Amino acid sequence: MNKLLNWVDERLPVVDAWNKHVGKYYAPKNFNMWYFFGSLAMLVLVNQLITGIWLTMSYNPSAEGAFASVEYIMRDVEWGWLLRYLHSTGASAFFIVVYLHMFRGLMYGSYQKPRELIWIFGMLIYLMLMAEAFMGYLLPWGQMSYWGAQVIVNLFGAIPVIGEDLSLWIRGDYLISGITLNRFFALHVVALPIVLLGLVVLHILALHEVGSNNPDGIDIKKNKDENGNPKDGIPFHPYYTVHDLLGVAVFFFIFFVVVFFFPEAGGLFIEKPNFEPANALKTPDHIAPVWYFTPFYAMLRAVTVDLFGLPAKFWGVVVMGGAIAILFVLPWLDRSPVRSMRYKGWLSRIALAILVVSFVVLGYLGLVPATEGRTTVAQILTVLYFLYFILMPFYTRMEKTKPVPERVTG
Ligand code: HEM
Repeated sequence: MNKLLNWVDERLPVVDAWNKHVGKYYAPKNFNMWYFFGSLAMLVLVNQLITGIWLTMSYNPSAEGAFASVEYIMRDVEWGWLLRYLHSTGASAFFIVVYLHMFRGLMYGSYQKPRELIWIFGMLIYLMLMAEAFMGYLLPWGQMSYWGAQVIVNLFGAIPVIGEDLSLWIRGDYLISGITLNRFFALHVVALPIVLLGLVVLHILALHEVGSNNPDGIDIKKNKDENGNPKDGIPFHPYYTVHDLLGVAVFFFIFFVVVFFFPEAGGLFIEKPNFEPANALKTPDHIAPVWYFTPFYAMLRAVTVDLFGLPAKFWGVVVMGGAIAILFVLPWLDRSPVRSMRYKGWLSRIALAILVVSFVVLGYLGLVPATEGRTTVAQILTVLYFLYFILMPFYTRMEKTKPVPERVTG
């Protein structure tokens, strides 16, 4: 074995790579459970890739055959039901894990200098993940697949001048059709997974270049021992490989309970109208995207006024796009001298709490039909969401921070 390894290593630096990224990668010793979600996101990504490849073997990407082929997978393909539920539940699990992963970043200031690029790659991953989920959702060709795609692609039509042509170009037809299904299939199973994988590699390379942040937000590279290793660091392997296994075990437990007993999650993970085949002549009573898009959907619907001669729908798209775009510049909005929420002041804590509550309640409002009262609440919460970012340069500088210790605490 050793001889073989040496032979390979002389031609390809596998040992170097292993040491740099795993064996001698020193990670802060005070990681807590919030640090599970990066490795869990990788786990879910692998689950999506594997189950996706096997689903593709029995799926038929045509308007005539798609719905029936999913039924066939569910009823006749051996273990097909499991493959499908692992994939559909995996999609929601992906967003749960990624939202918690992003929240950790907000809490510990992991986006701050020198980790801006890790954050930017993360945001690009998030964007790609949304595109991937959106296109995947059309594939079962159910009523919600069809009408959800119809609503979202039509949004591009709100862009002045080029809008109509742009949505026509995306659909490849005057309405969502088999042509749209075919191209979404190609993008969902080939193009976007490649981009996602590439971005994850860049995300990790950028992380390993500067090193991980930690719950104290302390730079562990400032305190090194005689060998040049951080005193507050421990090698990723075996310490964190084993530690992450605990996260995997807990995650699998919850994940499989859902997969085996509640795969539809009461209509949250698989919406009820999607058990009916797509019908271009029958609009469902209530069209709502899957839960992970609903905060943004609620923001879109919250905009109800025409401005500067442009329709409310256009401004809704601007607000929705802005809500995502503003996250990209987060590293430059935070002016705090400290990273972690542990040492930031009350203003930052309250602001983050308001952001989370706004996002969650908006998520709920995006799921249910709009009423006048709900729209007003959504408008207020949309403003609060944006204020978190717009006011950040001010409250992070104004507030009194606590002194950061020299070495990591527990
Ligand atoms: C497929 C999705 C993703 C995967 C597989 C992934 C993977 C990882 C891994 C393995 C780590 C190191 C372990 C950890 O800190 O938890 C990490 C760190 C990080 N990720 Fe992600 N990530 C993903 C998405 C995102 C997104 C959407 C964002 C934010 C927009 C993000 C921001 C960060 C940040 C800031 C760090 C550094 C955290 C720190 O050192 O405190 N990631 N990511």
